[in-house]
Amino acid sequence: MAAGINPIEEFKKDHATVRDILLGLIEDLKARNVEGALEKLITLDKLGGPHFRFEEETLYPMLKKFYGDDYYEYLLSAHDRVIRAAKRIAEVLGKGEISEEEAEELIRLIRRDILPHPIECEGLALLAEKLSKEELEEVARSIERARAEGLPLLEWADRVRERRV
Ligand SMILES: [Fe+2]
Repeated sequence: MAAGINPIEEFKKDHATVRDILLGLIEDLKARNVEGALEKLITLDKLGGPHFRFEEETLYPMLKKFYGDDYYEYLLSAHDRVIRAAKRIAEVLGKGEISEEEAEELIRLIRRDILPHPIECEGLALLAEKLSKEELEEVARSIERARAEGLPLLEWADRVRERRV
């Protein structure tokens, strides 16, 4: 790989990390541990920004030749849902304490709108394996670029992403 990283491995590693953080976040919310939950949200924000960015800037459009326009639109709308959910979690946790109802609301939100991303996106590796060496190198460069810029998810969503949520 010219860029020095294997893009499919990197993308799968990100999903496994996100899975672990989300499961931990659910546990923190069950325990109404706002501090632990906030820490995990910040980690997700940092990891999710570059991840969503390379997916939207490179990987998703590149795979369109396999899955077509409708599924492409579905993937973008799934990102919209994650961004909206992350904003809501930040808003609730930002108050410094959460009620039992709020904890339940956030757990439902994570399970409905965020956890499906690593589950479903992981399956795209199946199609990414069909890309050419040159295309995979382009994806690798895109991952490195997005990581080097390091924009957190919500900042990227508000400042750079063209699609508004
Ligand atoms: Fe992903």
